[in-house]
Amino acid sequence: MSATTTGAAIVAGVCGQPIRHSMSPAIHNAWIAAAGLDAAYVPFAPGEENFEAFVEGLRGGAIRGLNVTIPFKEQALACANNCSDLARVAGAANLLIFEADGTIRADNTDGPGLIQAIAAQAPGFDLALSPVVIIGAGGAARGAAAALALAGAPRISIVNRTVARAEAIVRSIGGVVEAVSDGELDALLGQAGLVINATSLGLGGGPGPAARLELTPKNAVVVDMVYKPLHTEFLRRAEAAGRRTVDGLEMLLRQAIPSFEAFFGVKPPISVDVRALALARLGEAAR
Ligand code: ATR
Repeated sequence: MSATTTGAAIVAGVCGQPIRHSMSPAIHNAWIAAAGLDAAYVPFAPGEENFEAFVEGLRGGAIRGLNVTIPFKEQALACANNCSDLARVAGAANLLIFEADGTIRADNTDGPGLIQAIAAQAPGFDLALSPVVIIGAGGAARGAAAALALAGAPRISIVNRTVARAEAIVRSIGGVVEAVSDGELDALLGQAGLVINATSLGLGGGPGPAARLELTPKNAVVVDMVYKPLHTEFLRRAEAAGRRTVDGLEMLLRQAIPSFEAFFGVKPPISVDVRALALARLGEAAR
């Protein structure tokens, strides 16, 4: 929300359950204020049973668009009339745009956000030479696997507590993506160029996935999509083993950029240090 918000403001928001601790309103509203836009970005937390009814009610452009987060990313895609290749391949959407003609367009900016975060925090990383291990098989893992497959990763191995969910991702993406069991993980880590925690393990400060990161090649890059805390137990173990790390906050910030452009038609102003703003909110020091 900016000081200049009027009755003609463009409204967008973020939808999840729970949404209370989302960082997205602070990020987008900081950009809105710095750009001097007549706009607002607000949080929504429909009940888990009510997501579809909520989205249906927004058809016709009551608001311009929505970011979608846990647990609605797969349902969001199902509500849309058309979608980007990435959202289709991922089988999940984190961005819905409400067109004036009543249609809904879905996109997935999580995967590109991940790739840009890696480029920013692990410069020189070569995806084409890097077998990937993804731990987790929810909406976040889907977005990552789709984008990494389209970007040319040679192999993407998905391990998940519920193996059927990893197998479902293989069915929707196919190609270089495979579902693997816990028993295969150590051997895969030994060859991995990129290891990603796409589970919620570690959120709030608990232990992350038990993967033995010290088995990875020395030049492997370790990513945690969890950003609360910023320095998760998983990333701390990777750092202790001397591996380069990429944090979930950078990915969150990078996925927000194309969302902002889709909502408001302009690039976020570079004058705002949204990472510093987010770190202050998280009570974290800069890395
Ligand atoms: P998101 O949209 O962020 O991916 P999600 O769809 O709820 O959220 O997926 C959460 C992921 O964390 C899943 O891979 C989940 O494993 P299951 O598919 O077996 O549920 C994983 N996860 C959550 N809690 C876990 C736990 N205690 N142990 C192992 N995996 C866990």
